[in-house]
Amino acid sequence: MPDREKIKAATAKIFQDMASAMAVGMVYVGVRTGLFRVMAGGGAMSAGEVAAAGGLQQRYVEEWLNGMTACGYVHYDAARETFTLADEYAHLLAADDSDHFAGGLFYMAPPLLGAAPKVAEAFTKGGGVRFDEFGEAGADALDLINRGNYRHRFAQYWLKALPEVTAQLEAGAHALDFGCGAGQVSIALARAFPASTFHGVERDAASLARARRGAAKAGVGRRVEFFPDLAAVSDGAYRLLTICDCVHDLARPVEALGAARRKLTEGGTLFVAEPKAGDSLADNCNPVGAMFYGFSLFHCMTQSLAEGGPGFGTCMGPARLEKLLSEAGFRDFRQLGIKSGVNNFYAAAR
Ligand SMILES: C[S@@+](CC[C@H](N)C(=O)[O-])C[C@H]1O[C@@H](n2cnc3c(N)ncnc32)[C@H](O)[C@@H]1O
Repeated sequence: MPDREKIKAATAKIFQDMASAMAVGMVYVGVRTGLFRVMAGGGAMSAGEVAAAGGLQQRYVEEWLNGMTACGYVHYDAARETFTLADEYAHLLAADDSDHFAGGLFYMAPPLLGAAPKVAEAFTKGGGVRFDEFGEAGADALDLINRGNYRHRFAQYWLKALPEVTAQLEAGAHALDFGCGAGQVSIALARAFPASTFHGVERDAASLARARRGAAKAGVGRRVEFFPDLAAVSDGAYRLLTICDCVHDLARPVEALGAARRKLTEGGTLFVAEPKAGDSLADNCNPVGAMFYGFSLFHCMTQSLAEGGPGFGTCMGPARLEKLLSEAGFRDFRQLGIKSGVNNFYAAAR
């Protein structure tokens, strides 16, 4: 029989975890309906004021405010019957498209947990849930999670770790983003380096269409183009190859990375951004690691296994990445010293 005190502690943890899961759903609703934006900087507001400012149904808003108060995001003044969104949560959840916007993470919850029954089935049957089965909601979430960083940090901070690449992009060069999703890397870099051209390759039709729409909206013209397949772009043409949040997803990684490598010029550089993870389970037993194992089970790993891939999963540490890149023919692998709470960065040469 387990220790009574330990059972009590485990019970408390189970309720805390379930409360956190419900908080995720409530934060998702707050981001999606604009409630955080409505309350940001608004000071103390009654439920009626919040509902009116957001143009939302009052009873839903009241219950959301109650829940967000219980979760600690909102302060309730019982005497005045007002709710105040804490400034730090406004900073993280009301600033869409900034590099400190954390709201995109919460967009992952509905598509990922929606896939949970199919993932559970795959435990017995094998296979998995394909990338396209996560639909627009999955693509939306990925776009929202990453685009603030790509817009505000990629050229301004991350690429500074490769000064020779930055200098060539400033002078005018070609860059390729493989597995480009919504195309935000190419669009951001095109804005930062007006003398250069940026191509993206994305095999998911909905994401490719999203990337093309994004480029048209950004007004970057013919300097940014997106293609469905690596075969559509020239070998030996690109000074920089970027692969962001993608290597661990690949179904045929050595083949795909080898084909991508051939797109680089002699002396071309690979830049990889991957979720922040270490090589051992012990390295990843922290809140970010726990979140990534969930992302992995319900998205990254399962979509690779669905295609008969290796299912590396989200927490692919540097040692496995180095081995993979070396098998694909890359050399001079190194981890870049760019600080981030959620990403590791690497470079290699063709
Ligand atoms: C997790 S998403 C990341 C998207 C984007 N790079 C970003 O950082 O937001 C991984 C992307 O890689 C794409 N992908 C996976 N395998 C691919 C392949 N063999 N060829 C092209 N795209 C691929 C997926 O369709 C998906 O859009």
